[in-house]
Amino acid sequence: MRIVLMGPPGGGKGTQATILKEQWNVPHISTGDLLRAAVRDATPLGLKAKAAMDAGELVSDDLMLGLIEERLGQSDARTGFILDGYPRNLCQAESLDQVLARIQQPVSGALLVEVDAEKIVERLAKRAQQEGRSDDNEATVRKRLAIYAEQTAPVANYYAEQGQLVRVLGEGDIDEVTQRILAAVTQAGWD
Ligand code: AP5
Repeated sequence: MRIVLMGPPGGGKGTQATILKEQWNVPHISTGDLLRAAVRDATPLGLKAKAAMDAGELVSDDLMLGLIEERLGQSDARTGFILDGYPRNLCQAESLDQVLARIQQPVSGALLVEVDAEKIVERLAKRAQQEGRSDDNEATVRKRLAIYAEQTAPVANYYAEQGQLVRVLGEGDIDEVTQRILAAVTQAGWD
């Protein structure tokens, strides 16, 4: 299974990927998690990425391509993957296709988890209180939502035009969303 998991910030991508990776026995590759680890460890990548992340903006495409190429080159990704947070604009989508063609691992499909923007603001306000993530304050969440609408939503159209997009409602209980995803993936015939 080689899935691109898409959705707005706070849409539940990470939550669902953590469950689905067990189900499908593939690694969950989250560019957000990789970047946060780089910031925490103060690596050269982390030092370059931190300002954009704190502002709710996208990290540059060339830094992201290096990161994703390296991660997809690791042995555990040979059996498949769930990509969470990449690609996030059309340039990244085209780069990803090239990388995957080179390693002969084209995506099975893209799954778009859809959640209303105001529900997201509520979810992330709760997470800000619980976890204190530096980009979960309301102003930055709204900025992330605007960048999502402007730059990432077109990526869903990119996959839809290739007949590779499945949309799933991401509202309701976590388990309910998982069941919807599993049913949609079965119906799409991805493996
Ligand atoms: P990233 O970490 O990818 O952030 P994001 O897309 O904003 O996503 P989140 O992690 O906030 O949300 P999620 O959809 O994973 O939801 P989650 O499961 O956590 O990226 C962070 C930053 O890194 C970016 O802003 C950018 O700067 C940079 N970056 C990353 N990738 C990049 C790229 N490719 N290019 C350039 N820059 C990049 O859930 C959210 C909350 O909701 C949790 O508290 C959860 O418990 C709760 N929740 C989940 N499901 C439900 C449910 N069904 N009901 C109620 N609550 C729920």
